[in-house]
Amino acid sequence: MFFSTQYIRHASKPFYTPEPDVCHELLGHAPMFADPAFGDLSQEIGLASLGADDDDIERLARCYWHSVEFGLVREGGERKAYGAGLLSSFGELEHACRETSCAQFVDWDPGAAARQQYPVTEYQPVYFVAESLPDAKARMRAFCEALPRQFYARYNPATDSIWVDRAVRRTD
Ligand SMILES: [Fe+2]
Repeated sequence: MFFSTQYIRHASKPFYTPEPDVCHELLGHAPMFADPAFGDLSQEIGLASLGADDDDIERLARCYWHSVEFGLVREGGERKAYGAGLLSSFGELEHACRETSCAQFVDWDPGAAARQQYPVTEYQPVYFVAESLPDAKARMRAFCEALPRQFYARYNPATDSIWVDRAVRRTD
């Protein structure tokens, strides 16, 4: 499940949008959901956010940014993008994947990504590179499982519902 904006950038500025628009959603995010490992990675972060405290939400948001939005994988000796922020921006895609890029590239480590600040109005100075999408998912799952939680949630595709491992009562 993915929530999408319906806003579209102004026709006078086709190469820039100040906020995510439907081009970003449909060119960047939607095709990646055809890959089950990517879908699981994205869902893992969403499920971990349920019942998480504000600090962990912030950590998970940074992980989301450095993977689902700006993640890279190694394939055949090259860096390839899977993050929607890259896939929907040919300028930043080149910046991130060019061999001579001035950006910093580090191995995908959700613990480090959870601490890594990021700019929102310029190209990223630091990218996290996974060995593969299953590797990105496995590391994210391990990080989420180590978070202190009041309950654990799993998605059940057979019933299209969220399963939690104990009774949960809303307090708001
Ligand atoms: Fe996005």
